[in-house]
Amino acid sequence: MSNTAFLWHNGRIKPWAEANVHVSTHALHYGSSVFEGERVYATPNGPAYFRLADHTRRLFESAKVYEIDVGYTEAEIDAACHDVIRANGMQSAYVRPIVFRGAGGLGVLPKDGAPVDVAIMAMAWGAYLGDAAERGADVCVSSWNRPAPNTIPSWAKAGGNYLSSQLIGLEARRGGYDEGIALGHNGLLSEGAGENLFLVKRGKLVTPPSSAGILAGITRDSVLTLAAELGIEAEERELPREALYTADEMFMTGTAAEITPVRSVDRKPVGNGKPGPVTRALREAFFGLFDGRTHDKWGWLDVVDPARTATLGQGFTSAAVPDREDQKAAIHGRTPQQQPAPMEASA
Ligand SMILES: Cc1ncc(COP(=O)(O)O)c(C=O)c1O
Repeated sequence: MSNTAFLWHNGRIKPWAEANVHVSTHALHYGSSVFEGERVYATPNGPAYFRLADHTRRLFESAKVYEIDVGYTEAEIDAACHDVIRANGMQSAYVRPIVFRGAGGLGVLPKDGAPVDVAIMAMAWGAYLGDAAERGADVCVSSWNRPAPNTIPSWAKAGGNYLSSQLIGLEARRGGYDEGIALGHNGLLSEGAGENLFLVKRGKLVTPPSSAGILAGITRDSVLTLAAELGIEAEERELPREALYTADEMFMTGTAAEITPVRSVDRKPVGNGKPGPVTRALREAFFGLFDGRTHDKWGWLDVVDPARTATLGQGFTSAAVPDREDQKAAIHGRTPQQQPAPMEASA
């Protein structure tokens, strides 16, 4: 992963190094951020977002769960995502929009009118799990479970959720694995630290249901759609841990992980230890979307468009950026991040 020159922050493009926040930022203390992970692929028609509108929709749904007012429309966030790719002249990228409660005084409950920051970063980021994407990942079942329903909502992609992911991922790394898989509160399969999980048994695809304490992944949905297109039977159902050890094939999905085959679980080989035919067919169909081999009949690709912008002082260049410091009375007349309030009762 490498940083880029520019990002989008509260309505304008600014140099990466200038997008800073105060240490009293609410999200830093209480995990009150919601975010997305998106990918832009180099396609024959130019750089294109994959399912941008679906990611933006989920961002707004996550914000709604936590009563965070994004302050922009979904169309404006989509357009800002286009801006950040153009500003950096990128052909492909991993893109991270984040909406978070800013510096408006401490206290778990945000004050009325406390600021909400919105930022969109684009980074060069290859395969999330390194060479495991090709050879197959070695994973373990974590000793940490996913949060039970009615505790931390798994459908909301919130910063705080990733404390659970860190525990799962850190334990896996300490044990020499590429990734950890969590069981749910009921001992049934849930998902990886940052990926959804698919098993193949006798040619049929099975995956835990969206009620299994998982993030309802957009890649997961894409795989289910592509499977239907390829005539591969698929079922969402509850699965016990031993399904991992008896599967013929296994893979994990996510925007970052894309479709990563799994070759072993708890050091037991999955199938013959190599990516199997169903995994390979789905990977081919998925990556074919980006070089034109798979017809995008769903309208999932959103080519970066010069006509779409949600940035003040359009037509930015790097030289023009500092001059727009004073142009922050943004798209909705929102004010930029306010000066941090004096410390108040903390919780
Ligand atoms: C915990 C978790 N589960 C699943 C996923 C996969 O979701 P998506 O395919 O929408 O990226 C992610 C990635 O964002 C994740 O962080």
